[in-house]
Amino acid sequence: MKKYAKMIVDRDFRISEIDRRLYGSFIEHLGRAVYTGIYQPGHPEADEEGFRRDVLRLVRELNVPIIRYPGGNFVSTFRWEDSVGPVDRRPHRLDLAWRSLESNEFGLDEFSRWTSKAGADIMMAVNLGTRGVADACHLLEYCNHPSGTLYSDMRAANGRKDPYRIRTWCLGNEMDGPWQFGSKTPEEYGRIACETAKAMKQIDPSIELVSCGSSNSEMPTFPQWEATTLEHDYDYVDYVSLHQYFGNRDGDTENFLAQSVRMDGFIRTVIAACDFVRAKKRGKKDINLSFDEWNVWFHSNADDDDTMANRPWQQAPSLLEDHYTFEDALVVGLMLITLIRHSDRVKIACLAQLVNVIAPIMTEKDGGAWVQTIFYPYFFASRYGRGVALEPVLTSSRHDTSEFSDVNDVESVAVWNEEKEELTIFAVNRDLKDDIVLTTDLASFEGYGLIEHIVLESDDLKAVNSADAQNVAPKAVNRTETDGRCVTSVLHCASFNVIRLGKRHKEA
Ligand code: AHR
Repeated sequence: MKKYAKMIVDRDFRISEIDRRLYGSFIEHLGRAVYTGIYQPGHPEADEEGFRRDVLRLVRELNVPIIRYPGGNFVSTFRWEDSVGPVDRRPHRLDLAWRSLESNEFGLDEFSRWTSKAGADIMMAVNLGTRGVADACHLLEYCNHPSGTLYSDMRAANGRKDPYRIRTWCLGNEMDGPWQFGSKTPEEYGRIACETAKAMKQIDPSIELVSCGSSNSEMPTFPQWEATTLEHDYDYVDYVSLHQYFGNRDGDTENFLAQSVRMDGFIRTVIAACDFVRAKKRGKKDINLSFDEWNVWFHSNADDDDTMANRPWQQAPSLLEDHYTFEDALVVGLMLITLIRHSDRVKIACLAQLVNVIAPIMTEKDGGAWVQTIFYPYFFASRYGRGVALEPVLTSSRHDTSEFSDVNDVESVAVWNEEKEELTIFAVNRDLKDDIVLTTDLASFEGYGLIEHIVLESDDLKAVNSADAQNVAPKAVNRTETDGRCVTSVLHCASFNVIRLGKRHKEA
């Protein structure tokens, strides 16, 4: 059967205005994310605060709107007070999550100065593993209360007079996971999340709170966890979190590229759980979704197990340093398309993570910074995926994989930037052998013409980038034609495509 893809994009088929936080990311005190990643005093690229300028340049290029911090699993044994005040008085601690040594040389105030330079907001997580309501309140008071109290004055004494006004807060991390220190049953978590949320909103009603959802869609308690925990904390929280990582562990690339179907189902089920609780409680507001950890993660697993078991308590060991292949970048592209398609309910998403740890940006301790294959889909989505997501009425030829049936050969979504009068089509051709023509009907975008068609492609699905070689990098191609109403694009087999169109203004 001939392979094909057809799409209708209409300015009235609106999914939603995309929340800029959909293109967020994550920095955890884990491996070399902080030390020798974003912060390395003495490095030739370090600025006066020890922040690596080469990394900051790349983060700014990505235009990351919000960065989750300080964990992840790390947060569940973290004492935030250790990380503020005079550096020489900060304690060294055992980080139980990653069996590493945390020096606390870089803490909350340093991170906040770094995010200002990066142009990003902070999404702060509180420790609901080994700590609880009081500590979460103290941290919020330190960050957001203007002055005149113990913790707000402590912040001022530490050099920051004005409150940070951090808006988005996570109530713990992956609290259903047996690996989490202080993990909880759904009832235990629902209760502590409710009480913490209630107290935090009393301190600062302007904040938004994320309740922990299941650690991934394969957890045995998913989706009962969402229903039970939300029954407790629904009235006080604004989002529920989702986390998901994929890996091509058995070398089945066709099936790996279909994993975004699982992500799509995960999102739909969490929306259903939120809406079930809303109906049950006769609730008046929607709970939206914060997909605050997503990526490919599997390359480094065995080495990391070995490091943590046999060489524990190092400071900033190399952990989770996945070297991403071209096919990983395709999966990241497909995950981004899935997030944009659900932007009516997914308001926050964080590519996990940002630097050195399962990251688009890597650093050499004694050298420069470089970008992985997955940098590119994230870069293009963040740059051109702002505006209104349009419902793609998409029909595509399909195929089956070892786990999924009727998987579209082509996945796509379009984003309309009304202000700039630009329309961007993101499309992935999952087919590993055949080029496929994508025909897009643009009837309601009269006068729009092609700006450029950018593609990420490679003959080698396993190609990787390194400090010395950018083997996988985007390029502009001449594969799209427009006739005023129809856009015809040839999508190379196994490729990520960005097709940019803009309003043509008649010469006066
Ligand atoms: O991002 C790496 C880890 O993955 C995070 O610490 C944890 O939340 C998740 O399991």
